[in-house]
Amino acid sequence: MLERLKEFNRLSAAFNQARSLPTLSDAILACLKQMNGCARGGVWLRPYRSNEPVLMGSFGYDDGSSPMPQVHNAYNLLCAPLCYRESILGFIQAEAHDSTSFDELSQELFATLANQAAVALENARLFADVQETYVETISSLANALEARDNYTKGHSERVTQYSMAIAQVINLESERLQILKHAAMLHDIGKIGIKDIILNKNGRLTQDERATIERHSVLGDLILGPCTFLAGVQKIVLHHHERYDGLGYPEGLSGENIPLEARIIAVADSFDAMTSDRPYRQALSLKHAIEELQKGAGTQFDPALVEAFLSWLSTHHLLTHIAGKASEAA
Ligand SMILES: [Fe+2]
Repeated sequence: MLERLKEFNRLSAAFNQARSLPTLSDAILACLKQMNGCARGGVWLRPYRSNEPVLMGSFGYDDGSSPMPQVHNAYNLLCAPLCYRESILGFIQAEAHDSTSFDELSQELFATLANQAAVALENARLFADVQETYVETISSLANALEARDNYTKGHSERVTQYSMAIAQVINLESERLQILKHAAMLHDIGKIGIKDIILNKNGRLTQDERATIERHSVLGDLILGPCTFLAGVQKIVLHHHERYDGLGYPEGLSGENIPLEARIIAVADSFDAMTSDRPYRQALSLKHAIEELQKGAGTQFDPALVEAFLSWLSTHHLLTHIAGKASEAA
C-alpha cells in the first residue's frame, strides 16, 4: 500500500509543473495507468473559455471501442468530475480489467487524483489567462508607438520577422524565441518619449538631436521597467544599439557581453533601416544593404549572426523569386 501511495505521489507531483492542458492530461494519464488493475482510462478537459469538455487523451481503447464514459461489459468504472469552486472543469475515468480490480485504496486514490487534477487545471487556466494579458499588453504598446512614428509602422513587424529568421537559423531555444519576438516588437518603444519635432524631422539631425534620439533605448528600458513580466524583454531593448566592437550605446558593451537577442535585433534593425525609404534618403538596394552588413560583420555586428541572416536571406529571396516566376508563368 505504501509503495502504491509513494508512486501515486511521485506521479501526481508532475501536475504542479503542468502549464498547458496537454502536459496536464499526460500527467493525469500516467497516474491512471499505474492504478492497480486499471485497463483503460481517459481525460476530458474543458479548454480555457469553452464550455465543452474535449477528450485530451486516453489509453486501452486500441480495440476501437469508444472512450466515452460508459460501462464496457459491466466492468468496474470509476468516473469523477474535476471541480474547482462552483465549476466543473472536466472529468476523468478509469475502467478495470475485471469486476474485482478496483479495491478501496484505488477508489480513494482516484478521488484524490480528481481533486489534485482540478487544482492543477485551474492553475493552468490562470496561467493561460496571464499569458493572454501579456500578449495584449505588448500589442497595445506596439500600437501606441506606431501611432506616434510613421517610420515605425511596419518596421517593428519586419524587424520581428528578420529576428525570428536569424533565431531559427542559429537554433535559439524555444523559451527565448517568445522573449525575442516581444523585444523585437518593442525595441523602439522608447521613441514614445522623444519629441515629435525631432522624431519626425525631415532633414539631417544635429548632434544634440541625435543624442536625444539615442536616449530611446534607455527610455524603452524605463517604460518597460514597471512590467515585471517584461524583465527579459527590457534588457534586450536597452542594448539593441550596442555594437559588437563596443562603440555602440548606451553602455558601450562589446562582443558576447551584449545579450544575444540584442545582437540579433541589431542586425535585423539595421537591415530594415537600410532597405526602407527615409525622409532624407531613398532605400538602399538589396545588394548594397547586404554589402553593408558584410562590411559591419565583426565591427558593428556579431559576424555569426550576419552570416545566419544572409543565409536565410539567400534562401528566402530565392524562394520569393521562384514564387514570382511561377505566378508570372501562370
Ligand atoms: Fe532603435
